[in-house]
Amino acid sequence: MTGKLTGFLPAALMTGEAELDAQHDGIFSRIDRLKKLAFESNTLPATDVRELLAFLANHFATEEQLAKAADIEFLVHGQEHARNLRLLDKAVSELEGGKLDRHTFLRYLDYWFEQHITDFDKRFAARLKDARKSS
Ligand SMILES: [Fe+2]
Ligand SMILES: [Fe+2]
Repeated sequence: MTGKLTGFLPAALMTGEAELDAQHDGIFSRIDRLKKLAFESNTLPATDVRELLAFLANHFATEEQLAKAADIEFLVHGQEHARNLRLLDKAVSELEGGKLDRHTFLRYLDYWFEQHITDFDKRFAARLKDARKSS
């Protein structure tokens, strides 16, 4: 799931871990695609959003594997991933049922993802770097 950056990841949200940054960039580029879809066609098919959530789940699994390989404690961070996947899944059901506005959902997704990188992933990347130095 690694790859080149496509330019969707803001510089302020770079963690310095190439694999994480490439995946974060991929997630931002998918959010951007959904935003365009929502504005241009005035629809947001749940299948497209679920595809993004699947990509997100894979990304979370990558972070968990990196933590395990480097022997880094990941309990709280992992719980945060699980909690947000549940919340986002519930939000998609509300979108489908017409109880949630698509633009509100996309704004929330963007905000949440930025906050998650700032509050959890940057610190995690720093610990990965430290673990590599001391091994
Ligand atoms: Fe992440
Ligand atoms: Fe994370």
